[in-house]
Amino acid sequence: MNIQKNVSLKELNTFGIDKKATFYAEAHNSQEVIEAITQAEQLGVGIFILGGGSNILLTKDIDALVLKMNIKGIDTVAEDEQYVYLKVGAGEVWHDFVQYCIAHGYGGVENLSLIPGTVGASPMQNIGAYGVEIKDVFESLEAVHMQTKFLKTFSHAACRFGYRESIFKNEAKGKYIITHVTFRLSKQPTFNTEYGAIKATLDEMGIKKLDIQSISKAVIAIRQSKLPDPAVIGNAGSFFKNPTISPIHYEALKQEHPSIPGFKTEKGIKVPAAWLLEQAGWKGKTFGNIGVHKDQPLVLVNYGGGEGEAIKQLSQDIQRDILRRYNIQLQPEVNVV
Ligand code: EPU
Repeated sequence: MNIQKNVSLKELNTFGIDKKATFYAEAHNSQEVIEAITQAEQLGVGIFILGGGSNILLTKDIDALVLKMNIKGIDTVAEDEQYVYLKVGAGEVWHDFVQYCIAHGYGGVENLSLIPGTVGASPMQNIGAYGVEIKDVFESLEAVHMQTKFLKTFSHAACRFGYRESIFKNEAKGKYIITHVTFRLSKQPTFNTEYGAIKATLDEMGIKKLDIQSISKAVIAIRQSKLPDPAVIGNAGSFFKNPTISPIHYEALKQEHPSIPGFKTEKGIKVPAAWLLEQAGWKGKTFGNIGVHKDQPLVLVNYGGGEGEAIKQLSQDIQRDILRRYNIQLQPEVNVV
């Protein structure tokens, strides 16, 4: 295993922040993951796992062994009339996996087209978009327990998925390295077009025949129209989660702001953070080389040369402002390092 020293992470995080890793290595299989854990122990540093770098904000150098997950492969491990089970390497690019499924006629992930990042990172925060979350197609995952170096299988229930949540962001945080994820895809797909914008986009595109390919195309068109391409403008997607507030709190806000949107969930009323940010005047605001995106205010952006600390500061200014105006504490969705 080749361990490099003082490696710039600029090209390895989608915010494009220029911070360094004290040590850096790449893992191509589970054995190399275990080897990296041993190496880090000998070097006396921790391990920091890097997938696509699309959900982190670096505010400082990482004094650890940064391990880039490069385990590849998509294997069919089981199949019946209805479903196919695909075991996918953690280092596969998420959208490449989605395209593989579409090319093979396997349904379930088409609504999750074009989400940046890798397969291994997808269960961590239960990635979701346009009415689908990976928990809907997740079967199980394999991960190396860092302390014992044993491989452990996590069932669906064991992952404790929630909205942008899993056990890997809570009790199991920093304890496991995900190496493979198994998904259950449908050979007779049902289509999820409940999210309003999908229907409208399919109509606009003149698509009459509903299939996974056309849904994927619609999702790609919506994402490209609203979300900045990280290859052009540095960003990590939604910076904040959509908050859930109590019905009483929501009713009180509605008196003052009659147009406030709200969606009933098991836990209360979910309010789009993008609406709060837009109403509060943050949409499209720029501060030097960083800012709030002009089409989707949930996305904080680095126009080039921006500092992680400055973006963190901006996110905290936004949080304070939203708390003051609406008494809502926004939680970051991005992992601030
Ligand atoms: N809105 C505004 N102004 C805007 C944009 C949105 O007021 O400029 C309000 C509108 O009321 C709109 C609502 O926000 O109806 C929802 O907007 P949108 O459909 O764009 O979705 P979102 O809630 O802002 C979430 C995810 C995105 C995901 C989209 C589509 C979170 C934190 N974000 O955004 O995920 O792509 O839904 O499903 O849940 C990500 O996690 O990085 C991400 C991009």
